[in-house]
Amino acid sequence: MLTVETLTVTRGGRTVLRDVNLTLAPGRTLAVLGQSGAGKSTLVASVLGLLRPDHGQVRWNGAPLPRGAAALVMQEPRAAFNPRLTLRRSVQEPLRARRLPDDPVRLARLCRGLELPPESLDRLPGQVSIGQAQRAGVLRALIAAPPLILFDEPLSALDAMTQKHTARMISELQREEGFAALVVTHDLGYAAAHADAIAVLRAGQIEETAETATFFAAPQSAYGRSLVEAAVSLGALGRQTAA
Ligand SMILES: Nc1ncnc2c1ncn2[C@@H]1O[C@H](COP(=O)(O)OP(=O)(O)OP(=O)(O)O)[C@@H](O)[C@H]1O
Ligand SMILES: [Mg+2]
Repeated sequence: MLTVETLTVTRGGRTVLRDVNLTLAPGRTLAVLGQSGAGKSTLVASVLGLLRPDHGQVRWNGAPLPRGAAALVMQEPRAAFNPRLTLRRSVQEPLRARRLPDDPVRLARLCRGLELPPESLDRLPGQVSIGQAQRAGVLRALIAAPPLILFDEPLSALDAMTQKHTARMISELQREEGFAALVVTHDLGYAAAHADAIAVLRAGQIEETAETATFFAAPQSAYGRSLVEAAVSLGALGRQTAA
């Protein structure tokens, strides 16, 4: 169980997260919705322990998050990889970092789940499609079976069809693997379809948190309502809210 308690983070002299409280249980998906500059990437970096909070804390089962317990899927698939290493080397890196043995059976199963041809892993990041590179990024996050995976706008570099397909593959793997997913996004359609719970982040503060169906049926904050109304008028939620 991840708990973020009264997390306050200053960057460049500005408070970019203020008193953020969140919880995320194993196997669940929490979507943190917020527009550009709301503090989403700052939240991700803070949960990973890459930024020191002014105040508050991030806990995993009541203790500091252990090394290797959380993995990150970044927004820009190509930038996420060393351009000079094959995808296979990068994907295996979390195992090496934790002195875990290679597991070819697991690798093959995850490749199937992500529809990554095994030979694509012998290419460089620049030699595969953006969609394949992003799925290799998901593979790298999953390979050492961390209980928590953070996704920072994981689909925004992909086209609309690829977004939907990739989101379904990730959800299916989550059912099999049981990791908790914290997904920061401004994509309400994705959140409606794939998240169990929603947190709305605005200017560094949580405006509301709710179960997904509750949020889309009756957002409590004025800002949450404006997000849902905008998504409805754009048709971004489709039939997904009925699910
Ligand atoms: N390294 C930094 N130094 C100073 N300020 C920063 C730094 N990184 C981010 N900020 C500021 O912190 C605030 C939150 O930035 P953050 O990157 O967390 O937003 P975001 O929600 O991820 O936005 P986006 O959707 O554009 O990725 C912004 O005002 C940004 O200018
Ligand atoms: Mg960001």
